Amino acid sequence: MKGTAKAHTNIALIKYWGKRNEELILPTNSSLSVTLDGLHTETTVQFHEDLQEDVFVLDNKEVTGVAYDRVTNYLNLFRNYAKKQGLFAEVTSTNKVPTAAGFASSASGFAALAGATSKALDLQLSDEDLSRFTRQGSGSACRSIYGGFVEWQMGERDDGQDSFAVQVAPQDHWDIRVAAVVLTAEEKDVSSRVGMRRTVETSVFYDGWLQSLPKDMETIKEGIRDKDFEKVGKVAEANCLKMHATTFGATPPFTYWQDTTMSLMQTVQNLRKKDIPAYFTIDAGPNVKVIYLPEHEGEVLRTLEAARGVEKIIVSKVGAGISYK
Ligand code: DP6
Repeated sequence: MKGTAKAHTNIALIKYWGKRNEELILPTNSSLSVTLDGLHTETTVQFHEDLQEDVFVLDNKEVTGVAYDRVTNYLNLFRNYAKKQGLFAEVTSTNKVPTAAGFASSASGFAALAGATSKALDLQLSDEDLSRFTRQGSGSACRSIYGGFVEWQMGERDDGQDSFAVQVAPQDHWDIRVAAVVLTAEEKDVSSRVGMRRTVETSVFYDGWLQSLPKDMETIKEGIRDKDFEKVGKVAEANCLKMHATTFGATPPFTYWQDTTMSLMQTVQNLRKKDIPAYFTIDAGPNVKVIYLPEHEGEVLRTLEAARGVEKIIVSKVGAGISYK
């Protein structure tokens, strides 16, 4: 009763930002991401008859507290489904993603955990079913089941059966690059979960955000289909700015940006003034992801490396979906 899965993280170009059902993790809007080959989590789940509780080891350290509870509550979903209540597991994960620094480590983490658990229990789930399960660990994770360009369709049903991810274009459809620029690896103050809840409940800009989404989604899908980099970049950057604008309109207001975040946003916009098409997107943290085309990699990376406050740059190509050992 053992399974091992590897999943890559993903970066949303159209952001998921808000839930209509917190328990089932049902979103208020559909979102779209690119799977990244440079950042992944590998997880092994082994169920043992003689364990009295779950054990969770992340990067060789035993995890307790909130992070442990989240994993063990998540395993309960599978135990209930497989009618194996009372059967506990040893979960061992290696994260190649800086945790809690806006790199959606929860995305590759929950996707790998879902994959490894379903293998360990021999559940034979379809990708669609696996994506539904993964969604209930962390919303953005349901997109990491697939490689390439992926849409999480929000669905309408109260039971969430129609809320899962689908592939929009495969990994080899289009070679774009994503530089994840680490400005600080410190833990963030407001988690994405808390931030999106506060925004949904209080932001005076939230309705505007929601209203703008269907058009953004339509435009980005056309851009991906036609490999129109400017179209994709423009809509992704604008969508990111709108998401972050909702945090400024919340009570109490907050932002994930630091001064170096804003300065890097300007660095990217300045690249465009030199006719280098590069666009940024930012998740619930200070770090910036820059998208560009392979032919501009040299100049983009040289510019980013020279920018203020840059600690590390992780370059990704478009990544593959979940895989098993
Ligand atoms: C800003 O998927 O981490 O990265 O569903 O509460 O676990 P939970 O949230 P999470 O939120 C990700 C938010 C985002 C945008 C995105 O990835 O779409």
